[in-house]
Amino acid sequence: MDRPDNFQAITSRIDIEILLMKFHHNLAVVFGLCLAALLPSAGIAQAANETFALQTKNFSVNFRVGDDGRLYQQAVGAPDRPKPLRASEAYPQAGDGYIWEPALQIIHADGNTSTDLLYQNLARTNDEFGRELVRIQLHDPAYPVQVALCFRIDSARDVIEQWTEITHQESAPIVLEHMASSALLLSTNVYLTHFFGDWAGEMLSPITERITPGTKILDSKIGVRADQFNNPSFVLSWDAAPQENSGRVLAGSLEWSGSFQVALDNNAEGTRALCGVNPFSSPYYLKSGDAFVTPKMLWVWSSNGLGEMSRKLHRWARDYGLRDGHKTRQVLLNNWEATGFDFDFNRIAGLFDPAREIGTEIFLLDDGWFGNKYPRVNDHAGLGDWQPNHQRLRDGLAPLAAEAVQRGLRFGIWMEPEMVNPKSELFEQHPAWVIAQPKRALELQRNQLILDLTRPEVQDFEWQAIQNILGVSNITYAKWDCNRYVTQPGSSYLPPDRQSHLWIDYVNALYALMDKTAKTFPDTELMLCSGGGGRVDYGALKYFHEFWPSDYTDPVARVPMQWDYSYFFPPMAMASHVTRWGDRPMHFACSVAMSARFGMDLDLTKLSAADKAVCAGAISAYKQIREVTQLGDLYRLEDPHENFRGALDYVSPDQTRAVIFVFQLKDGANIAVRPLGLDPAKTYTIHERNPAPGRATMDQEGKTLTGEALMREGILPSSSKALEASVIELGS
Ligand code: GLA
Repeated sequence: MDRPDNFQAITSRIDIEILLMKFHHNLAVVFGLCLAALLPSAGIAQAANETFALQTKNFSVNFRVGDDGRLYQQAVGAPDRPKPLRASEAYPQAGDGYIWEPALQIIHADGNTSTDLLYQNLARTNDEFGRELVRIQLHDPAYPVQVALCFRIDSARDVIEQWTEITHQESAPIVLEHMASSALLLSTNVYLTHFFGDWAGEMLSPITERITPGTKILDSKIGVRADQFNNPSFVLSWDAAPQENSGRVLAGSLEWSGSFQVALDNNAEGTRALCGVNPFSSPYYLKSGDAFVTPKMLWVWSSNGLGEMSRKLHRWARDYGLRDGHKTRQVLLNNWEATGFDFDFNRIAGLFDPAREIGTEIFLLDDGWFGNKYPRVNDHAGLGDWQPNHQRLRDGLAPLAAEAVQRGLRFGIWMEPEMVNPKSELFEQHPAWVIAQPKRALELQRNQLILDLTRPEVQDFEWQAIQNILGVSNITYAKWDCNRYVTQPGSSYLPPDRQSHLWIDYVNALYALMDKTAKTFPDTELMLCSGGGGRVDYGALKYFHEFWPSDYTDPVARVPMQWDYSYFFPPMAMASHVTRWGDRPMHFACSVAMSARFGMDLDLTKLSAADKAVCAGAISAYKQIREVTQLGDLYRLEDPHENFRGALDYVSPDQTRAVIFVFQLKDGANIAVRPLGLDPAKTYTIHERNPAPGRATMDQEGKTLTGEALMREGILPSSSKALEASVIELGS
C-alpha cells in the first residue's frame, strides 16, 4: 500500500499528462475524457480508506479503497456478520504484481501487457423497477483505459447481477485476454456443487467437492451454447456441502449462451470465483471508443440453504429472467415422438381432434415440415431451406395452423434458424456462410453445420427466415432448436487477425436476433432448445418463455433431472413431456410431467383407452393446480438422488393452496410425506388429484387439518410401490 493517499489528485494529474502526451492531437477524445472526469458520479465519490458495501437484504460484499488508491474486497456474507477476508483486489489485473488468475488482462496498443486499476468513483442509481444499480469506476493511471464494475441489485431476493464494462481511448485497439464478469472473493473453506452431463444426461449428476488449493475450472469451449458437458450454473456453500433448509449458500449462474469459464482459484487470498466468457482462444481487439460489456453473472444468496435460494431465484426469474413469468403456461402436444419426420397435412391434422379431446391446448409441429429440392424427411437434408415442403403441406403452413385453431388448439412450429445441412439449396448457394476451418474437412454433427452469425448476410438471412415462419397467421408458439456446437471455429467473414472474435460476436449476434424476435412477435411463446438442454441459461432465457431440459424424457430420469434444474430455474419454464421413453406406467409419467410445464409427446391415436383416460385426467387436474405449481413457491422435500422416492410441494403466494408430488422410484416403506411452506394457522383440506386407477384411496382423503399438523405429521400417500406417484392438493 505504498501509493499516495491523495490518489484522486495524483490520478487526475496523470490523466492530464496522458492527455497531453497521447491525445493532444485528438480534441474530441480529450473533450470526452474531461467530460468523464467532470461527471464522475450520480452518487458519492469515495476517497482513500473509505469503505462501502453492496447490500441486499441478507447479503453484503464490502469494499475498501486502499492507501494506494486500489479497490479491495474486504468481506462477503450476511450483512450482520460478513466474513472478513484478507483484503485483496476486487478485480485483479495481470502484469504488474498480481500472480494469481486475473480478472483482467490487457495488451495495450504499445504492447505493454500490464494494467493497473485505481478507484475513481461510485455511482448509485435505480432502474425502472426500483433495483439499485451500482457502478464502480476504475481507471489505469498510465493508460486511458476505464473499467466499470457494474451491479444490479434485487435486494428483497438477495440477487446481485454483476458485469464489467471496459472502454479506452488508446491510439490503436487494445487486446482483452481476460475479461471476467465477476471476480468475487470468498473465504477459504468453500464447497462447490456443480453438474456434469452430456446429451440425454443433462443435470443428472450433481457433484459436491471442497475447493482445495489450486484452480478448479468449469468451462465449455463449444461456442454456440454454454452447456453440453459442464454447466454454467453452480452452488457455493460455506464449511460443508449445501443443505436444503439450512446453511449459507450462494448460487452462481452465468447469463451467457456461449463458451464460458468459472475458475475457482484457491490460493493465499482465499477462494476467488472468476466467472465470464471463456478466455480460451478469445482475445478480443477493442477499438478506441468502443465498449466491451461482459455477460452478467447472477449471484443469489441464502442463509437458510438451497430451498430458500431457489425460491428467491424463481421469484427473480418470474419478474426478470423469463418472458411473461406471471402468466400460466398451457398444455402442449408435440408430434416429434409420435411421428418423427414421417407426416403430411392429413396425418398432423388427424391429431388435432384427439389432442383437443384429451385437453391439450397447443399443438407443436416439430422438425420435418420444410425443404423442397432437398426435403427434410430425415436429418440428412433440408436445414436452411425454410420453405414448407409442398408435397407434405401443399399450401404451406397457414392452412394447417388455421385448421388447428378451428379445432380449438393453438399452433406452434419448430425451427433451427442457425443451422444448415450441406444437402440444401442454401449451402449450394452460400458455401462460405458456414463456420468452418479452411483446408480442413468439414466436420458434421447430426449432418449439419452452423451458419456464421458474425456475417451480416447471415444475420439478415436468419432474421428473414424467422419472420417468414413466425409471421404465418395463427402461429403463436415456436421451439427454437440448435442441434450442434462449434468444433472448427473459423469464419470466412472475420479477418484473419480477428478469428478469435467468433466466439463472442456469434453470441451477441444471436442475442440481437432473439431480441428482435421477442419484440416483433410479443405474443408468440418461445421454447429454448438445444439438442436437449444445451442452452439453459439466463442469457438466452430472457427472450424465451421456457426451455427444453433434455431429450431424455424417461420420467424415472426426469425426477432427479428436474430436481437439479429447479435449483436455478423455475419449474414453470421447464418443458416436461409425457413420452413412451422407458415405457413407464402412464400415471407415473403424467404425474412427473405435471410437476413442471406439462406437455405430451405421444401418438394419441395409438393410446389404449385406459391410458387415454389417465392422460385426460392428468390434464384436467393440471389445469386446476397449475396456478399453484407454476406461480407458487417450490419446496423440495425428499431428494430423489438419495432416496427410494422424490417429493416436493408448491405453495401459492397467499399460502391458501399447496400441491404435493410424490414420485416412488423404488419399492420402499409407505411413509408420510411432510409438506413445507404452509401457514401453520390455516386449515387445508386434502384431496388426491388424478388418483391412479385401481389404487386404494388415501386415509386422509377429504380430511381438513391445520398447516401446523400437516407439516408435523405429514400425509400418507396412496403411492407405495416403484413407479407409482401421487399428486395431492391442499386447499381451503
Ligand atoms: C432435437 C430436439 C428434439 C427434436 C429434434 C428434431 O433433438 O431436442 O426435441 O425437436 O431436435 O430434429
